[in-house]
Parts: sequence; C-alpha cells; structure tokens
Amino acid sequence: MSLRHATLHQLRIFQAVAEHNSFARAAKALHLSPPTLSLQVKQLAETVGQPLFEQLGKKIYLTAAGKILSQASLDISQRMDLLSAELAALQGMERGSLKLAILTTVKYTVPKLLGGFCAAHPGIDVAMVVGNRESLLQRLASNQDDLYIMGQPPQHMNLVCENFADNPLVLVAPPNHPLVGKRRIDPARLRQEPFILREPGSGTRLTMEQFFADQGFSPVNRLEVGSNEAIKQTVAGGLGLAVLSATTVVSELALGELVQLEVKGFPLIRRWYVVYSGGKRLSPAAQAFKQWLLQHRPNPGSTLRS
Ligand code: PGA
Repeated sequence: MSLRHATLHQLRIFQAVAEHNSFARAAKALHLSPPTLSLQVKQLAETVGQPLFEQLGKKIYLTAAGKILSQASLDISQRMDLLSAELAALQGMERGSLKLAILTTVKYTVPKLLGGFCAAHPGIDVAMVVGNRESLLQRLASNQDDLYIMGQPPQHMNLVCENFADNPLVLVAPPNHPLVGKRRIDPARLRQEPFILREPGSGTRLTMEQFFADQGFSPVNRLEVGSNEAIKQTVAGGLGLAVLSATTVVSELALGELVQLEVKGFPLIRRWYVVYSGGKRLSPAAQAFKQWLLQHRPNPGSTLRS
C-alpha cells in the first residue's frame, strides 16, 4: 500500500506511542481507548509494509522503519505547526495557538501569569507541559514547543534567551532539626546529614551537587524523589534535608512547617530564562505571551534570608 494512505491522525498516534514508549500511556495521553490506538498503529504499519515496534520482554522499541517514520512524523508535525502559525498570523493573534514547556520549579509562577494572559486573549489555544531540565532539553532539541521557561540554556544550541527571573535555591530542614537557628553554618557540617534529592536530570539537583562538589564532598543520598511537593513532605516528616527552589516553599516557610537553614554560600542563585530556538519564527501568540511574561516578571527573593 502507498504511504499516501497514511493519515496525520495515524502519525500523531504513532508518535505518541514512540514518545511514551507504551501503548497504554499513549492511549491515556490522547484520551483514546487502547484497542483504537493499536488498530491505528497496525494500519499504519500495514501501509508502511514493515513493523514499527518490536517487543522485548515488557518493553517496546522502535524498529529501524519505526525510527525513520518517527523522524519523518516529527518533521511533518513541525511543518504543520509552522503552517498553523502562518495561518494564525494572517488572522491576527487572537485566533492563534501557543505551546509552552516549563520547569517544575516554574509551575508556581508562570501558570498564574498564563491565567491572566488567557483571560485577556480568550481565543488563543494554549498547551503547557511541565518537566525537569532534562525533559525540557529533549523537547527543545526536537523543537516541540514555541517557548521554554528553563534554567541555564545549553551553550551549544542556537537559541534566543531572555532573562526571566531569579531562581534562588534554599536549604530546608524540619523545624526540630538541631541546626535550626544557627547562624552562618559551615557547609562541612552537612557532610553526614541525609538529603532528599530530586531525580537525576533535575537542574536543582545538578546545582546542589555542584555546590557540594566545590566543598569537597557529595551529600548523603537518603532518598530520591521526583517531585518538589513530595520532597517538602518528606523533609517536614524528618527524613532529611533538601535543596529546593525558594518559590516552591514559600507557604511552608511562612507556616513554619519547614525552616530555611543559614548555610554559608546559600541561597544558590540560579536564573530562569525564556528560551526559544534561534531558527524559529515566533507566532504572534507566542510573541505576545513572551512580552506578557517579561512585563509581569515576579519579584524575586522576597521571602529570602541570606
Ligand atoms: P528542575 O528545575 O530541578 O525541575 O530541573 C530547576 C532548574 O533547572 O533550574
């Protein structure tokens, strides 16, 4: 059968399975039933004339044909995005769409700003994903979104980056910790302290590990948790200390559920940037949201002691 019989719908489904590495997760993400999804992928494989996935144990992998098709379907979806941006530009920004990818730490700041923007421009269709540094870098490399709000942008990519706000990282402890209330704590005193760490790939974790490496040791890894929210609860429960973005602990510090330790060198200053690919022509909606973000930058550091 000729490839001309493949539909955009089938390619979108196939791409979702490839990205999620799972039929079940892709079905959930696309709000489709697993049999519908499998049927579409099966029909696409028949059109291609070769299997697209192979199963080894419980995992599925793209075959050689699947890999080529995945690259082509990404190209097609980027071309479709460009087409819709061009069509939106003809209609003016009020009918456009906007795809955002933001860091886990930014989700305490940007969604509120997005709310105001959407209220002012109700015709704009917005999609937003939240991920850690590693996942945003992957999305950026495959040009999946219009704008990214992330930490230090990679040097080797052709990117446009604008400063958005400070992202200070603080060291937090449960209120009954023996170091609470001590001034100018030497980082060496934390050598034996158990830490709750973010998952590998997190920019928060990277920055913390760099800080302790500069002090000549690695923190004791008590537990790895892939969510700022869960880390806060774990620290409050007394399992260890953690380094977190100050924006994620504003209310816990105010309520006294967590305490900020006054360790020398803290807060660690990271920044957030509004980033997009250098080769990309921003749609009017993306352009307008970028302006909005920069005009409504948060007031950084208001809860900090140093
Ligand atoms: P992350 O975000 O820890 O969720 O990756 C923080 C950052 O990269 O600054």
